[in-house]
Amino acid sequence: MSAYLRYPKILNFELTTVCPWKCLQCYKSVGNIPDKNFDWSLLQLYITEAKKLGVGKILFSGGEPLLYPYIIQAITLVKDCNMELNISTSGVTITNELYKVLARVDALYVSLNGSTEEINKKSREGFKEAVGIIQLAPQKGIKTKINWVARNDNVYDFPQLYDFAEKMGVGAIDILKNKPNASDVIDSHLSYKDIVFLANFIKEHKGRTQINIESCFYELKNLCGIKIRNPIMKGCSAGRYSMSVDVNGHMLPCTHIKTRDSDYKGSSLAEFWHKDKALNQFRQNNKKYNECNDCEFLEWCKPCVLNIDRRCILKST
Ligand SMILES: C[S@@+](CC[C@H](N)C(=O)[O-])C[C@H]1O[C@@H](n2cnc3c(N)ncnc32)[C@H](O)[C@@H]1O
Ligand code: SF4
Ligand code: SF4
Repeated sequence: MSAYLRYPKILNFELTTVCPWKCLQCYKSVGNIPDKNFDWSLLQLYITEAKKLGVGKILFSGGEPLLYPYIIQAITLVKDCNMELNISTSGVTITNELYKVLARVDALYVSLNGSTEEINKKSREGFKEAVGIIQLAPQKGIKTKINWVARNDNVYDFPQLYDFAEKMGVGAIDILKNKPNASDVIDSHLSYKDIVFLANFIKEHKGRTQINIESCFYELKNLCGIKIRNPIMKGCSAGRYSMSVDVNGHMLPCTHIKTRDSDYKGSSLAEFWHKDKALNQFRQNNKKYNECNDCEFLEWCKPCVLNIDRRCILKST
């Protein structure tokens, strides 16, 4: 039996498919699917159940979650339940009423893939809006962090982005692994040299802004010397201590699984977590590369089972 927590600790909700942007990198086909918002009554049921199960952290994503019609009520509900709340945003116009409630959010993750518009636009839209929120946040009492996807076309800009984040009082930069976009293609792959550059910067940086590495980004964690041996906590968190709910209320181990191809079902979070057959099969999937067996990182390494199609980049140089 594959190890997983009794209940998930982290729950990710896709609140809406509505988004003003069409980012080249985006794994959601937001521009090509009908606008849809999460049913507010259903969201209240899930959040109330999550509280009872002991879920510690809620993530709101999308689409653009700040455009969800019930965003103020949803933030208020999660914070009144004393759960940690992180929201990922591209940057949009924010009303004064929303600014006030955003001050209760534990981290507003602003997505930014470059320190300049030119670098950012290779993969994302909305540079000015994202920077605008980061600049205004301290006056509004909002705690920001940055979500940065590590790509070949932005990796050497990371030190400049880090300096900007420090200057603006951003709490942390979370480095996300570059995953397939809506057409199932991983664009602008990192090379081994790119990952070494990033790892050296992370190991040597001395600033106050923290640098976090996404749990499934095993290549970077390995080169940074991060050694987590616990079978639940090492590697990808999907179905082990986290899960996602898409805009239709459909439960999934991970937001990067395409809902239309999935057969995950369940009427409550607890039922899904313990009884769903497809989720249990997903947990049993221990796909690895041939080269893993002789690898010095094997004890603490767990590659993403969804994206094994090439050789491990750390062993193909
Ligand atoms: C899908 S967006 C939704 C929230 C909001 N619209 C935003 O852009 O922050 C959530 C996060 O996923 C990241 N993301 C989008 N496509 C990605 C991909 N192909 N690989 C890795 N991260 C991706 C975005 O940069 C963002 O930080
Ligand atoms: S990454 Fe975010 S802002 Fe960009 S298209 Fe996707 S959902 Fe919209
Ligand atoms: S070869 Fe396997 S164990 Fe070694 S770093 Fe790559 S994925 Fe991890």
